[in-house]
Formats: sequence, structure tokens, C-alpha cells
Amino acid sequence: MDIAIGKVEGQATEEVYKLLCKTVKALLDGESDLIANLANVAAAVRQVTGFWWVGFYLVKEGQLVLGPFQGPVACTRIAFDRGVCGACYTRRQTIVVDDVDAFPGHIACSSGSRSEIVIPVFNRNGTVAMVLDIDSELPARFTEEDKKGLESIVRLLEKRL
Ligand code: SME
Repeated sequence: MDIAIGKVEGQATEEVYKLLCKTVKALLDGESDLIANLANVAAAVRQVTGFWWVGFYLVKEGQLVLGPFQGPVACTRIAFDRGVCGACYTRRQTIVVDDVDAFPGHIACSSGSRSEIVIPVFNRNGTVAMVLDIDSELPARFTEEDKKGLESIVRLLEKRL
């Protein structure tokens, strides 16, 4: 599928997320395979936003296990009580970290990451099925508008779980 997306320099964030939502809707439409959908969502988010690392950690075997992602290689398993991803899973809410070095227990998969946002993805019975983890090489990169936009992408994905 050739979708006309690319990093949109200079566009207002709201416009970027509108485009991203439209793209993700089209990608998920009619496809039920979980891995295929996660892979395309990670790719679309990274392609449009240019964020450093975009990927999923899935709840498996009592921990978070690396799923489809875009960006540098990452750690494969995260305990529920470790890192920003673990905190997101345990608190069941989006966590924005402006300075990863100041977050107790942050797991440094890549020294390039300066700030991050992690969003829980719920399945139909309300349990956290996975988290969407996004890192930036810029400090304090994730605004309230990014949070809102990325959470709306996750809501689209949840309809497919
Ligand atoms: N930063 C995460 C670990 C995963 S990497 O960012 C890809 C954390 O502390 O949970």
C-alpha cells in the first residue's frame, strides 16, 4: 500500500495527528492480524512524526515483551515494576517523562533517548494488553497535544483487539 505520508515539517501538531489518525484507520481497516497491525501502526507513527523510537511492549508471561517497533534495537523484556513501561502498566495510565535521567528506574535502551511517553493499550475486558512506548532524542518533547493525539491512535488500535 502506498500511502502518502512522510514527516510533515512545519505543520501544526493537530494537523499531523489528524493525518496520522486517517492513515492508521486506513491501515487497520479490514485487517485482524495483531502483529501486522502493530507493525504498521509503529511504522506510521514514526514516519509521520519522526520520533526516535516507536514500539510496543506486549503483556506476556507476567512481564512486558518487545513487540513490533521502529528505531534502534531495544531491550526485550521489562518487569512490571521496572522502567517507564512498567509504571505505565501498573498505573494503567499514560506517563510522560520530560527527562528520562530523572525518572527513577528508567531503562536506558538507547543513550539517544532524552524524553518519552508510554500509553497503555486496553483490551475489551479492560486489562492492559500492551503499552505503546515512544522516545525522543529531544528533552521534554511530548506536549499535551502529543499525548492527546497519540492516545487517539491507541483508541483506534483498541477497536482491533
Ligand atoms: N524506556 C523504557 C524502556 C524501553 S526503551 O525506551 C525502548 C522504560 O524505561 O520503560
